[in-house]
Formats: sequence, structure tokens, C-alpha cells
Amino acid sequence: SEGNAELSKSFAERFPALVTGFFFFMWYFLNVIFNILNKKVYNYFPYPYFVSVIHLVVGVAYCLVSWGVGLPKRAPIDKELLVLLTPVAFCHALGHVMSNVSFAAVAVSFTHTIKALEPFFNAAASQFVLGHQIPLSLWLSLAPVVIGVSMASLTELSFNWTGFISAMISNIAFTYRSIYSKKAMTGMDSTNVYAYISIIALLFCLPPAIFIEGPQLMQYGFRDAIAKVGLTKLMSDLFWIGMFYHLYNQLATNTLERVAPLTHAVGNVLKRVFVIGFSIVVFGNRISTQTGIGTAVAIAGVGAYSLIKANMEEQKRIFISFSFLFD
Ligand code: 3PG
Repeated sequence: SEGNAELSKSFAERFPALVTGFFFFMWYFLNVIFNILNKKVYNYFPYPYFVSVIHLVVGVAYCLVSWGVGLPKRAPIDKELLVLLTPVAFCHALGHVMSNVSFAAVAVSFTHTIKALEPFFNAAASQFVLGHQIPLSLWLSLAPVVIGVSMASLTELSFNWTGFISAMISNIAFTYRSIYSKKAMTGMDSTNVYAYISIIALLFCLPPAIFIEGPQLMQYGFRDAIAKVGLTKLMSDLFWIGMFYHLYNQLATNTLERVAPLTHAVGNVLKRVFVIGFSIVVFGNRISTQTGIGTAVAIAGVGAYSLIKANMEEQKRIFISFSFLFD
């Protein structure tokens, strides 16, 4: 297998763009399937806090088995690393649970339209939390994103405040997750990092699930779902959404290791375009014309914003290399 490793290594080295493309493809593919299966479960089992725990339980079980067979080898963890990863995991847990509260409450396409605002939240955080100066042109380029999402929300047929606010909270949580991840650059490989994050996030997700949904689940939640689809289907659906959830996130983390954060953020918005499209087709949701236009404007806005930002970073890079020249 050492020969194999050598072979695959040289393939990845010879065709890095192909390999990165494959990572993106798998990330999107797993995410689309996850979103569709997940919403199907909420249609007969509307318990997002509990389902969020199941996603992580399946993921953690998968990690433990993977470590057990040494694929990958478990990276050692110490107190210092734990301290770095805990805030990342907390934000991951909060963003995850809030996304799911939104998925359960409104159309999947609507949750992802609101989540397309994530770059806007990132820009706001870098200005107001990290104190970086964001140029006015960059702020202006985000205007279509905000206007588009507002247009889409105003006429969204499945609109309700629970779905809207929880998706907004998930935007804030995931923005902080990226801030803390930058501080937690550990040198550990991304698969191991994501495994530890899943374990810690699971601990954060358990108490709210027990307190908020425990009583209803015990009284009628499980009973009703089993009456509707049967125990076997309930169990297999929960297992598969957990697997898809874990694998798409692991792929997303592995992709981040291969590309710049900006590319990753743009890739994440593009992923939402696919999810929005597929979910509308699969669930046959009707969307109003204004919602359709608003969603398109928002997504085009993210594209424009990314181009401007990429340009600015390129300018900065050129400037820095020149200033070295003259030092
Ligand atoms: C989750 O369950 O955490 C959501 O699917 C997160 O959505 P995202 O990874 O598309 O932001």
C-alpha cells in the first residue's frame, strides 16, 4: 500500500486542480443529498434540536470507527489544543442547530437564500470585530446581496420569523466560527480537526435537545413518526442524514485546506445555488417571481463582491511584494 500511497500522491501532485475540482464536486453532491433527505425527515419528524444531535452522533461514531482502523491515524490532542478548538466547536454547534431549526421551519431554498448573506456577515465582523478597514466600494458591492435577500424574504411563501431569525443566527455563528478557526491554526490535518470539532460540538448540542424537545419526543414525537413511516425507515433516514452531514462537512474542511478562504467562501455560496435549484425541483415548491428575482440578485451580488475582494487582495499582494523590493 506504500506503492499505492506513492501513486496517489503523485497523481494529486500532478493534477492538483483536478483533485481540488473533485473535492468541490463531492462537497456539493453530498450537500445536495443531505439537504433533500434532511428536509424529508423534518416533514414527518419536526424535531431539529434532536435531529442536529443525531447528525453529530453518527459523525462521531464514524470518526471513532475511522480512528479505530487507523484511517486516518488519530492525531494526539492536549489541553492547549482543546482550548483552541472549543470556541470553534461551540460556534459550529450553534450554527448547525440554528440552520436546522430554520430548515424545519421554512423551505430549504429560503434558508439557503438567507445563508447566502454569510459573506456580508464576514465583512461586518472583519470591520467591527477585528477592526480591519473595509473599503466603501466593498460595502457598496454587498448592497445587492442585502437588497436581493430582502426582496426574496418579503414574498417568500413559506416565510415565518422562526425560520428567518434562526438562519440569521446561524450566519453570525458561522462567521465567528471562521474567526476562531483562524486563531486555531494548529498544524493538525483537517480530517482530524473536524473529528475533534464534531465530538466537542456534540456535547454542546445535547443539553438543548434534551430540555427543549425531550418531553415532546418521549410523549408523542417518536410514536407519531413511527406510526407515519415505521421504525426501520425512521432509523435508516436518521443514519443516512448523519452520514451525509458528516461527509459533506469533512469534504468542506478538506477543501478549505486546498484553497484560499475567499475561494472557499465563494464556493460555499455557489453550493447554495445548487441546493436552492435542486430543492425547488424535488419538493415542487412554488416561489413567487419576486422571490426568484431577489434570490438571483443576491447570488449575483455575492459573485460581484467576491470579484472585487479578490482584486483587492491581489493589489495588496502586489503592493507587499513591491514594498519588499524597495526595503
Ligand atoms: C447544518 O446542518 O449545519 C447546515 O447544513 C449548515 O449549512 P451550511 O454548511 O450549508 O452552512
